[in-house]
Amino acid sequence: MLRHVLPVLALLACNCDSGTTPPRPGPSRPIEPPPKVVATPDAGTLVAVSEAPALYGKLCAKCHGEKLEGYAADNAPSLANPTFLESTTDQFLHASIAGGRPGSSMGAYAAALGGPLDDAAIASLVTWIRSQGPASITLDPVGAGDAMRGAKLYGQYCQTCHGDPANRKDAVHLANLRFLQQASNEFIKHAIVKGRPGTKMLAFGEVMKPQSIDDVVAYVRSFEKGGVEEQLLPAPTGKEPIVINPKGKDPGFKAREDRFVPVDEVKAALDKKQKMIIIDARPPSDWRRVHITGAVSYPYHDLDRLKDIPLDVTVLAYCACPHHLSGDVVDALKKLGHKKAYVLDEGINDWHRKGYTVVAAPGVQPPPTESHHGHNHP
Ligand code: HEC
Ligand code: HEC
Repeated sequence: MLRHVLPVLALLACNCDSGTTPPRPGPSRPIEPPPKVVATPDAGTLVAVSEAPALYGKLCAKCHGEKLEGYAADNAPSLANPTFLESTTDQFLHASIAGGRPGSSMGAYAAALGGPLDDAAIASLVTWIRSQGPASITLDPVGAGDAMRGAKLYGQYCQTCHGDPANRKDAVHLANLRFLQQASNEFIKHAIVKGRPGTKMLAFGEVMKPQSIDDVVAYVRSFEKGGVEEQLLPAPTGKEPIVINPKGKDPGFKAREDRFVPVDEVKAALDKKQKMIIIDARPPSDWRRVHITGAVSYPYHDLDRLKDIPLDVTVLAYCACPHHLSGDVVDALKKLGHKKAYVLDEGINDWHRKGYTVVAAPGVQPPPTESHHGHNHP
């Protein structure tokens, strides 16, 4: 079983708590180049599709739901919606899983990017996801659209859920370059015309004129222009020093609920040169975009490696969603006997936004500030 899954996928459930999680801030620009991962639709034969449900349950269900219905956490969309499956391609699904959607909590799962899945395992997931709904249909063509007119309509009908090019809101971020590289105009139009039944995405074919829909598609497509290509930092070598300020004093955090330490307290402790370990719990590709200075990459899907973390040092773990993946790492550390393992409350996005030091690939900007900032503690 699972022989093509690279690291051991033990203890993997992400703590993602509920669909009521507040909207996540996105990056100021979704700007990474596509990963060098070749889609191999026929590699599904190499990993039995019967293995896919177990992979899905361990890596994906806590966000996308046990039945692929979506919205278990982080506003992850449905993967089984009929209007999605009938219009998507294997390539779209494969690339979404392999490369993720930088700036959202959808990480990159490809082994080539440091993730836990090789091409064959991703292909088996793709085949299995596709088997949950209708087969592909021929999509209606898209006529010439006027992006200027589309911009107005987008502001009126779409922005409250999909955000603008710089800011992700609750629904799939349409300005994400990795989304735009995979989504054809016909796929986008199909989603607008038919909606996604059972979700907040209405069938706009019933309220908008065909020309207006083509205009909106032209506007969405225009997000692609001006997207700055982004570099990744080198992959973690595993030889990075684990302990920050090894000669410093223990910070002695008084964690809320014995679990959460606010970013401001951690920053203050670092300024006093106190001793700690900071763990980045996200997939390693996210560490390669941006991480807190001194943070080491111990992803939620490779918890076995936590054995290397010395027991006598205060440890903090963070992710981008406030606590879903970091909570898993903290629970695993506690099981290993750590008495001072905490979640860095608010995660890296707040840290970055406050201007505290990070190591970032060229082009990575702090996430935008949120006016309606809220937290949801599991
Ligand atoms: C921590 C939460 C989380 C986990 C775990 C996760 N996803 Fe996602 N996924 C998301 C979010 C959020 C999005 C939407 C991102 C955006 O804004 O574009 C997404 C998007 C996707 C998409 C694109 C869907 C679309 O309509 O464009 C696919 C396909 C997908 N995920 C598959 C998977 C698979 C398969 C796994 C497991 C290997 C997985 N995801 C794990 C949160 C997650
Ligand atoms: C009330 C919120 C809301 C509004 C308004 C809205 N959408 Fe959506 N949209 C969503 C949600 C939620 C989804 C994902 C549904 C799912 O889980 O399958 C979605 C999905 C989509 C998708 C498919 C993305 C993918 O990867 O599967 C496209 C394209 C899209 N919307 C475009 C638009 C456009 C263009 C407008 C304006 C005409 C619009 N939406 C208005 C909430 C909304």
